[in-house]
Amino acid sequence: MKAVARLRPLPINQAEALQDIEISTPIAEPKDLLVRVEAVSVNPVDTKMRRQNSPPDKKEPPRVLGWDAAGVVERIGSEVERFRPGDEVFYAGSLIRPGCNSEFHLVDERIAAHKPKTWTMAQSAALPLTAITAYEALFDRMGIAQHGRGERESILIIGGAGGVGSIAIQIAKLVKLHVVATASRAESEAWCKKMGADLVIDHSRPMVPQLQQMGYPTVEYILNTSSTEQHWMAMAEAIKPQGRLCGIVDTMEPVDLNVLKRKSATFSWEFMFTRSMYHTEDLVRQHELLTQVAEWIEQGHIQPTLTETLSPITAANLRHAHAKLEEGRMIGKFVLTGWPA
Ligand SMILES: NC(=O)c1ccc[n+]([C@@H]2O[C@H](COP(=O)([O-])OP(=O)(O)OC[C@H]3O[C@@H](n4cnc5c(N)ncnc54)[C@H](OP(=O)(O)O)[C@@H]3O)[C@@H](O)[C@H]2O)c1
Repeated sequence: MKAVARLRPLPINQAEALQDIEISTPIAEPKDLLVRVEAVSVNPVDTKMRRQNSPPDKKEPPRVLGWDAAGVVERIGSEVERFRPGDEVFYAGSLIRPGCNSEFHLVDERIAAHKPKTWTMAQSAALPLTAITAYEALFDRMGIAQHGRGERESILIIGGAGGVGSIAIQIAKLVKLHVVATASRAESEAWCKKMGADLVIDHSRPMVPQLQQMGYPTVEYILNTSSTEQHWMAMAEAIKPQGRLCGIVDTMEPVDLNVLKRKSATFSWEFMFTRSMYHTEDLVRQHELLTQVAEWIEQGHIQPTLTETLSPITAANLRHAHAKLEEGRMIGKFVLTGWPA
């Protein structure tokens, strides 16, 4: 089958950074779906994995990247309960297994869901990784209630126009939070508003004075989808006493946890691959949450985050998508569809 892989870590302007290869079709483990991949999305994790150094003195096999797919179930493993061949699915997959940039791909049924019936394959492929991240950050890490909110609470979403921010804004609005998003350009500000943000401030300027000016000296929740350390002190200042913050990006330098103590504020990490990487007992929660997101979509509560599409899925087109993401200015999501004849 056709696949796109990295053979060794290279900058994206080099033609060999990603290459078209032929590999054998994988065989399903008992809980696996073998999926015929029709569309894939590109995330910053793809670019990070592409650049990751190989272990020294070790010849690495080609590494297939890609952790966002939509497609059709071709075959199922012997213990699969939730899907049948022919079902349309969407999922992000696991970082410790080969990625989905291949014609056929294996995914554990406990982290996949039926694709939203009202969305195309491309629109569906754009969503799983970012939706899992946003959902887990809001509900599982920061403990935001989905139902029965009494008072009006606010969330600051830093990096509102990116992949994670675009869906986080929409889910936060669904559970009736007041959403302040951040964007540094007119286009990204307009996109945040389209996704439903009530207010938008500029993360390239000091954020606390802007929040104060808009009547939000503090907020109950902060989801930072960008540099943890760059925004750390502003987050500590903007969080309400006893509030909750969530980060999703590794720190490049240490941050001072003490600045949160006086406010008894809680900081949590969100890593959407934790459940699949450690095979946690609640692994199936990712199937359940993606199923809930698909229901919200079918009920018309969520709009697509897809903004750019390229066809077919080839190394050249994936290199283009990686280069675009590496600029750090992506609005919404980039998707590739179909395979060359
Ligand atoms: N832990 C996890 O499970 C997890 C999951 C998904 C993603 N991530 C990580 O989270 C990060 C974001 O992912 P993504 O898919 O949302 O990326 P993305 O789509 O590439 O994000 C692009 C957005 O980032 C904004 N941005 C750029 N510099 C910023 C800054 N200094 N402060 C605030 N926002 C800034 C840009 O807004 P402007 O153009 O308006 O500046 C742009 O809209 C990546 O590092 C990714 O690897 C982690």
